[in-house]
Order: sequence, then structure tokens, then C-alpha cells
Amino acid sequence: MLHHGAMRIRDFGVEIWMNRWETACRYNLAETCVESITVEALLGLAGIDRGALLGELLPMRLTYGAIEGTDRLRAAIAAFYQTATPADVLVTHGAIGANHLVYQALVEPGDIVVSIVPTYQQHTSIPESLGAEVRFLRLREERGWLPDLDELRSLAAGAKVIALVNPNNPTGSLLAQADLREIASIARHEGAWIVADEVYRGTDQEGAGTSPSLVDLYERTVGIGSMSKAFSLAGLRLGWITGPRDVLGAVSRHRDYSVISVGMVDDLLASIALEARDTILRRSRSIVRENLATLDAWVTAEPGISYVKPRSGTTALLRYEGDLPSEALCLRLLETEGVLFTPGSALDIEGYLRIGYANNATVLRDGLARTSAFLAALADGQAGATAGSAT
Ligand SMILES: Cc1ncc(COP(=O)(O)O)c(C=O)c1O
Repeated sequence: MLHHGAMRIRDFGVEIWMNRWETACRYNLAETCVESITVEALLGLAGIDRGALLGELLPMRLTYGAIEGTDRLRAAIAAFYQTATPADVLVTHGAIGANHLVYQALVEPGDIVVSIVPTYQQHTSIPESLGAEVRFLRLREERGWLPDLDELRSLAAGAKVIALVNPNNPTGSLLAQADLREIASIARHEGAWIVADEVYRGTDQEGAGTSPSLVDLYERTVGIGSMSKAFSLAGLRLGWITGPRDVLGAVSRHRDYSVISVGMVDDLLASIALEARDTILRRSRSIVRENLATLDAWVTAEPGISYVKPRSGTTALLRYEGDLPSEALCLRLLETEGVLFTPGSALDIEGYLRIGYANNATVLRDGLARTSAFLAALADGQAGATAGSAT
């Protein structure tokens, strides 16, 4: 039987939800990437003409290419950090490939992994599947979705890994530099690794837009990045790991069995994008900031919805009134209005909806208007039902 020898792992809630519904909606408010760009738009942002790109592409012999990523790409990735050099970077198939490899390399049965939740489910389900004891540090709305560091200190006793997503998916919270330093000191005390999934780095609502990476603050950080979210290029399926050499060595051993190399064309386009990082992130910033203003006005006006306003990233958790389970609510909304959110249940946090607000601005505005109509009808219906049962 299939499940006998196979590794046991939980279903990946969000990925199953997205695979099932993202092509069946009119208004995708579940997407977590900053609105993706075309190859043409990439060239425009990078100031490269088509001829120059073709000049590089046409003579390209499609071998496996540079096994660990080209020097050009790894230098462009390293430049996103203050302390990394190209030798500290390993290129992977998306951040999803990076996270997978990192846990394979770091975690053994019986290890303690503290994971700050809600999170991207790889950070709990993969270590669980590898036999780790996973301890959950729950973010709470009343704390602005920021971790209680005293709680972290006690949970982290004996931990091998502390895993977090910063800027945070799904809540949109952002750890201040002082908190990052405190988390680093907790980890240092335990000799623990921090797995820092920073795929949303570069999308802050305030300031320059790119806040510090844990990679530059704590020597035992394994940092994960990606072209998908802040860089709007998920189609490249390209991510990376940056961290201490001994971890990269262990990761490499696993990587040889599942990656070989990333595509040469992807490597080239990612290099172009990262070399134009300031321009691309400026575009992303203006999208996340303008769209969050739209979302914020909507939440303020919507009687049944409340949230903690995001500080970074592309997502927010919306709290709704009533006791309809989040999946039922999402399915009804999708059916009646064609609007797709992600139900909290897919993220193990019932009573909330996750919105991805960094997609197309018109889709966001129209989708929110449809959602208002749906919520008004729902409130009417429920009011009617209550009145009916009272008589
Ligand atoms: C926190 C986080 N990590 C990793 C990923 C995977 O990203 P990629 O497209 O780079 O594989 C996602 C995608 O939603 C994510 O939200």
C-alpha cells in the first residue's frame, strides 16, 4: 500500500486550496505574489533592450549550466545582504525547494523545532514528517501578530531550529530590528539555527521598504529568499539559501539528489532582475502601499470585518463576524461572487480569511466591492433567520 513505506506528511492546506480554486475565480484575492510581470516588463524595468537579451539567449547552449547557480546570479543574490558573499549562496527551485532542502539537511528524528505560527506550512509539516518534535509559538491578534519573546525563550529550551517567516505570511506583521536581535540572542543561548524565510523582504509599508535580514544579524541564520513574491517573478521558480558554509555543505549533499541545477534561462532572468533590484522593489513597494490603502479603506467601512493593518508583505488576516466556518464562507463567496480568499482553516487559524492584496489593483477593488455585497446579503440572511426562529 502506498502509505506504508512512504514518508508521512500532512496535506499542505494552502497549496491544495490554491491548486483547486485559483483558476476557477474571477477575482483572485488569494494570490500572495506582488502582481507578476512579463519578460517585456522586466526588460523595461531593468533598462535592457530586447536585442541585448536575445544576444545573450540565442547563443546559449542549454546544458545544465552552473550547477550551484552562476557566479553572476549568486553575486546579485549576495548583494541583497550586508554580510553574504557569492560563496554563501545556494540557488534552488523556488523558496519551496529551499525550505525543503534546509529541513532535510538540518532536522533529525527527536530534534526540537520551534515554529512561529500561523506560517507557511512547510515550516511545521516538513520537520514533523522528519520526526522532529515541533513546538508551536502562536502569534496572537491582540499582540499585533508579533511573537511573545518570553514564550519563545521557554519554548526554545533545547531547540535545534527556530523557524519564522519575516515579513510574515499570513499576518503581514514585521519584526522590528530590536526583536530580531532578541530572537537571535535566544537562539544563540541554545546554539540553535534560525530558519528565516524572508521571501517577502522588500515590501515594507514604511521607510525604504527593505528592513534588515536575520542573515546579517545572527551567525547561525539560514536565510531563504525568492524571486516569486517581492520580485514578482514566480514563473522563474527560483529561490535561494544563504547561510553558514557547514549548513550549505549539508544542504548541497541533499540538493545533488533533487535539483542538479536551476534552468539557465531562469538564472539569467533572475540575474537581470536582481541587478535591477532597486527599480523592481520600488514598483513592488508602490503596489503594496497603494493596494493596502484600498484594503484599509474597505476594512474601515465594512462593519463585519476587522484586522491588524499589515506592516509588510502582501497578505493580511481578516477577522469576520458570525460562526460560519471559514472554508464554507470562502466557498459561498466564490460561488456567488467569483471572489477567492484563502480560508483560515487552510492555515490552521479558524475565524479568519487571508487576503493577498498585492495583485492587480482593479481586481482588488472590484473583488472587495463584490465581497461587500456578499457580506451584506449574508448579514441580511442571518438577520432573517434569527428573526424567523424568534417568532
Ligand atoms: C513564506 C513563503 N515561503 C515560501 C514560499 C514559496 O515560494 P516560491 O514561489 O519561491 O517557491 C511561499 C509561497 O507562498 C511563501 O509564502
